[in-house]
Amino acid sequence: MSKHLHEVILDVLPHAVLVLDEELRVVMCNLGCESLLLKSVGEIKGKELSKIISHKDLQDQARGVLQNREATTKSVELHLDIEKGGSKILRATATTLHTEDVKSSLCLIVLEDITQQVQLEEQLMQSEKLAGMGLLARSIAHEVGNPLSIIASTLQYIENALVDTGNQNFREPVQIIMDNIHQMHTLLRSLSDFTGSKQSQFESCDLNRILSQLLTFISREAELHNVSIHQEFDEGIPSCQARSGEIKQLFLNLFKNAIEAMPQGGKLCVKMHLAPKDGARNPDEVLVEISDTGKGISKADMQYIFRSFYSTNPKGTGLGLSFCRRVAEEHGGEISVKSQVGKGTTFIVTLPIRQRKEEQA
Ligand SMILES: Nc1ncnc2c1ncn2[C@@H]1O[C@H](COP(=O)(O)OP(=O)(O)OP(=O)(O)O)[C@@H](O)[C@H]1O
Ligand SMILES: [Mg+2]
Repeated sequence: MSKHLHEVILDVLPHAVLVLDEELRVVMCNLGCESLLLKSVGEIKGKELSKIISHKDLQDQARGVLQNREATTKSVELHLDIEKGGSKILRATATTLHTEDVKSSLCLIVLEDITQQVQLEEQLMQSEKLAGMGLLARSIAHEVGNPLSIIASTLQYIENALVDTGNQNFREPVQIIMDNIHQMHTLLRSLSDFTGSKQSQFESCDLNRILSQLLTFISREAELHNVSIHQEFDEGIPSCQARSGEIKQLFLNLFKNAIEAMPQGGKLCVKMHLAPKDGARNPDEVLVEISDTGKGISKADMQYIFRSFYSTNPKGTGLGLSFCRRVAEEHGGEISVKSQVGKGTTFIVTLPIRQRKEEQA
């Protein structure tokens, strides 16, 4: 039997399309339903919706549009267990159809398989969390490890001084403290190793790509907070030698801080350009400016923001900016900030473009 043009069009669509009558019975469906629901078109047509997809939210959605007559519903996410097909996550949208040749209302349902997309987002969230844990572990190792080393060397100095005076009484207690310090150092090292936060190698990094990807990654969160993103990257920024994981984390921290500073929404603007040749800066540096239109930072707070564990955010660790500064400095760069309370803040990250000899040729 030959098909009408509209049926052919419906069949090539990547989504499943169902048309329901007022009794929620399927009057029409496309081929996409077969691959999504693992049922043939013959098995689906004429059946009640609940017999094909037993999900209350979808039925409510269909009834909702049929009763309101003109509304298109907001998409709902359905978690479905499909016979032999495992579980799937679908995005469903329902719309009422009005045609002159059909007296009663019809409901059009479009089902989109978003299982892979959701899994990918979860994986990204997971790696984000792991990166956060790694950052925390490295910061703790740094913040606790340094004073521990100072305690150990001071203790050694005291012990030597005591030995010089012929006093041997404290030898054993000092040794006990030393052993415990050593144990704590080992624990801190294994914590860093466990979270995979060992420092990686410098590699050639395309900042343009890294920043664009990060901005795409945070775009959903920005949208959720009513924050619009603007990017202005100069053309021809050469790739620089950097530890890409750390650089990504650095910018992600700054983007997150910017979004957190705009609870009522606002504008996040990211600009990237080379340092001007005739300016005070080195032309072999790249500058990334991250500006927000958020609450700003007072002069009093400004002196603390780069300190570890300083945070005005009840859920924050206060490690973000101290990490950013350390990473920028370890890369031979720096990070500076300008802010006006009530107007917004701009963080400027400067990184040297260390090109390999063969890249320069
Ligand atoms: N763009 C910004 N606008 C206004 N204040 C900011 C901005 N960025 C940072 N701050 C201030 O600096 C403080 C320290 O920032 P930092 O990133 O180190 O920690 P946090 O964001 O509070 O916690 P975490 O990074 O662990 O989530 C913040 O709590 C906030 O008060
Ligand atoms: Mg932060």
